[in-house]
Amino acid sequence: MESMGELRRSHKCDALGAINAGEEVTLMGWVLRRRDHGGVIFIDLRDRWGITQVVFNPELNAKVHEKAHDLRSEWVLAVRGRVEQRPEGMTNPNLKTGEIEVLVDELRILNMSKTPPFPLDEDVAVSENLRLKYRYMDLRRPGMAENLVLRHKAAQAIRSFLSNENFLEIETPVLTRSTPEGARDYLVPSRVNPGKFYALPQSPQLFKQLLMVAGMDRYFQIVKCFRDEDLRADRQPEFTQIDMELSFVREEDIFHIAEGLMVSLFKATLGLDLAPPFAVMSYREALERFGTDKPDTRFGLELISLTEVVKDCGFKVFRSVVEKGGLVKSINAKGCATFSRKELDNLTEFVAPFGAKGLAWVKIKPEGEWQSPIAKFFTDQERDNMSKILGAEPGDLLFFVADQPAIVHQALSELRLELARRLNLLEAGTYDFLWITDFPLLEYDNDAKRYTAVHHPFTALNEDDLDLLESEPGKVRSRAYDLVLNGTEIGGGSIRIHQKAVQEKVFSALGIDEAEAADKFDFLLQALELGAPPHGGIAFGLDRLMMIIAGRNTIRDVIAFPKTQKAACPLAEAPASVARKQLTELFLRPDWES
Ligand code: AMO
Ligand code: AMP
Repeated sequence: MESMGELRRSHKCDALGAINAGEEVTLMGWVLRRRDHGGVIFIDLRDRWGITQVVFNPELNAKVHEKAHDLRSEWVLAVRGRVEQRPEGMTNPNLKTGEIEVLVDELRILNMSKTPPFPLDEDVAVSENLRLKYRYMDLRRPGMAENLVLRHKAAQAIRSFLSNENFLEIETPVLTRSTPEGARDYLVPSRVNPGKFYALPQSPQLFKQLLMVAGMDRYFQIVKCFRDEDLRADRQPEFTQIDMELSFVREEDIFHIAEGLMVSLFKATLGLDLAPPFAVMSYREALERFGTDKPDTRFGLELISLTEVVKDCGFKVFRSVVEKGGLVKSINAKGCATFSRKELDNLTEFVAPFGAKGLAWVKIKPEGEWQSPIAKFFTDQERDNMSKILGAEPGDLLFFVADQPAIVHQALSELRLELARRLNLLEAGTYDFLWITDFPLLEYDNDAKRYTAVHHPFTALNEDDLDLLESEPGKVRSRAYDLVLNGTEIGGGSIRIHQKAVQEKVFSALGIDEAEAADKFDFLLQALELGAPPHGGIAFGLDRLMMIIAGRNTIRDVIAFPKTQKAACPLAEAPASVARKQLTELFLRPDWES
């Protein structure tokens, strides 16, 4: 192995062009590929910026050429040589440096590499576990490196936009106490306070509210949050929020700032000009039309209710569902009557895990007649009515689900997405933003037998619904909002409660009695009595935003060192066992050993 010695890098691997022909340069980087062409050896030398072809010609320098024979993938080199225009017909228009090559006169091998655990070409499929175990190799792959560059640009744009809007970047503690956002806490035992635990923040929610009480109007932070919950493609146990809070604001002020932030972000990363204001839809309308509070509005296939039309029909399944207070809803898949029996069976299986007990379907034949196992259960009049409501035309395929509302909505909203995938309706490069408003404040948790906060317990309620808080808590609307992008919830926030009496009422509706409120939230209640201004805010999931901007299917691809579905880091092998002594110091007695 050799040292860099006096050699200094003169250019990055993306920098040289025809204009540099004749110059002597020094490049440093990794061997991406080696090709032997009748005595001449070509190496694609790679660094973070790009690739340059370097050439070892025996006629130019036999000793260096001899040495180049040994080079293998991912060895680390320094080369000194002369830039040459490539011969006619040998240029590579796909490469920024494709017009030139460097004829090497001096080669230093700075480090060798074992054979990489997987090829670094982007198009080779590699198991996620292997990629994460050797994440530093994975990040050498061009696509992955680009994602991190994109994320850096996003962070810069966020800081610059919010600073210009008078926000202050303020850090909040990581060792703190539980902030309820609906997930389990990660706990950290305190050595100096036996039996006491910190919780890692699920979000900086309470601290940012306290900053408003402190008069630090307009706070933001790009901040790590920790949630011990079941993981999915768009959920990590530690993830990053763009968190903000403002004083003396209403919903529209926050929408305006958030939209400006999205405009800056999309300009800085994709060069795109978004056109706010974004569309706004109530939670109720979203559920009725799309079956979900995060609808992908890039395509139609909306849910249409047939509950009224079928309530007295001859199909027992539908009739009895309606009798029990359920719903019958339908999707008209335009032009899909060509779906085979197998595809229909397959879609029936697809909706089953979401609780649907079946998936009735109807194909509309050329004269408008119904081809369907359930056609016989309906009168001509009923069929006509349904066709009319659904706008059914020859060639269409109608799907129906009958059940309790939650099942109908989930099954059909998932079916809607699956149809869009099969019909290629999810257009890449289209960014459909949608605000969802008027969420319910509380929802009933059947397992816990009490109401829980839909957003979090500090969310203000719609004042028109104040009287309902005691009589019909489930009907109270909150002042929470989400921002949805292409069917992903990228952000959520609310106007907060800033008066102690209201906060206490909401705690009580949540089944948190005075003693528990005093124990857990005394610091907040006290602050609300010391001149808390009206305030509100929002937090965006930076990882989710970057996933969409980078066109990826999982947030793991835009996080440098993500965790697996089992919340593990295969690289550092975390979580890991610790020495008994460490546990003893923390006053922890392991019962997993006994
Ligand atoms: P919320 O819980 O809605 O609100 O979180 C805000 C946004 O953070 C993202 N997000 C996640 N991203 C990746 N992995 C996760 N496990 C994860 N959980 C949430 C989502 C979500 O929209 N304190 C409030 C905000 C406020 O009221 O101002 C909060 O945390 O994109
Ligand atoms: P059956 O009479 O049970 O054979 O059902 C006839 C058709 O109705 C089948 O295509 C089933 O998939 C469908 N079906 C059954 N139950 C439901 C339901 N709850 N919602 C929608 N379709 C259903």
